[in-house]
Amino acid sequence: VSDRLKKVQDKIADMVANLGDENSSKLFATIEHGKMLRSKLMLKICGSDEVIPLCAVIELIHLASLLHDDVIDNADLRRKKPTVNALYGDRSAVMFGDILYSKAFYELTFFDPFIARVVASAVNTLSIGELEDVAMSAIFNYDEAKYLSMLYKKTGVLIEASCIAAGFLAGLDHEKLGVFGKSLGVAFQIVDDILDITEDEATLGKPAFGDFAEGKSTLPYIYLSRALQGETRDKLLSLFGKKCSAEEIGWLKDKFAEFETITQVKATAMDITNEGLSAIKHIDNEVVSATLLEIAKLQISRKF
Ligand code: FPP
Ligand code: MG
Repeated sequence: VSDRLKKVQDKIADMVANLGDENSSKLFATIEHGKMLRSKLMLKICGSDEVIPLCAVIELIHLASLLHDDVIDNADLRRKKPTVNALYGDRSAVMFGDILYSKAFYELTFFDPFIARVVASAVNTLSIGELEDVAMSAIFNYDEAKYLSMLYKKTGVLIEASCIAAGFLAGLDHEKLGVFGKSLGVAFQIVDDILDITEDEATLGKPAFGDFAEGKSTLPYIYLSRALQGETRDKLLSLFGKKCSAEEIGWLKDKFAEFETITQVKATAMDITNEGLSAIKHIDNEVVSATLLEIAKLQISRKF
């Protein structure tokens, strides 16, 4: 972990300690830091340490959203550790999410109103996206555009807001940075969808093949459903929203391989990433655009 990323981690811990609440400190101690993608981007965009408390605010919001998401998805494992809902129950996880979320908003009031509005509006959209995700789990969704729009809301919007806010602090073209953040965010979630299928639990830090069982018809499943016909297609649809046996997972893996679905999904993630990269090609800071290109490349080829 770089020095500045460590400063963000310390700031997050400060903000939680600052609550002066024993229960919150106890729950916080069970949670692992994630990849901190949002902070990494913001630190690259803004060289001044002014951005560090803002990174902490964004990470608290992200963490709050994951606490709620793990309740919604009934998930037991996150970042290789048992979730708060698994350890202490849904009620504690929901309330701890609300505590982190409201603390983040309190801290946000100390920033420029432009930043406060961009972030607040992003959380609004994020929640609308998660509600769409819930609604879409009722029945298999074939509509790629509808899926990508939900991904933008659920994941892209907070990464977009992080890039806009950090760009604003740095005095860079924050609109272009926002376009980059949006693309990177959507591509990030598509890569997440791929890894759910290609990697195992030990690598992911959460169960593999969880998405389809949770009622998520992610891009690989949308593409596969288009390639299949008749009985094989019916078989795919019959597995939606149910916990698959080892044999059924084997069948799915065979079908993904047969139709080269993952390669196609990767190409889509690449196209979306490239759209974002073209927006920042001519940004007024070459170091920033070069490092963001590096992050975008790393995220596409990541394994967890
Ligand atoms: C993970 O998706 C979930 C999100 C990126 C967003 C969740 C948003 C909310 C719960 C809205 C509430 C917001 C606040 C701030 C209280 P996933 O389930 O596809 O990914 P996973 O496999 O990592 O769980
Ligand atoms: Mg989830």
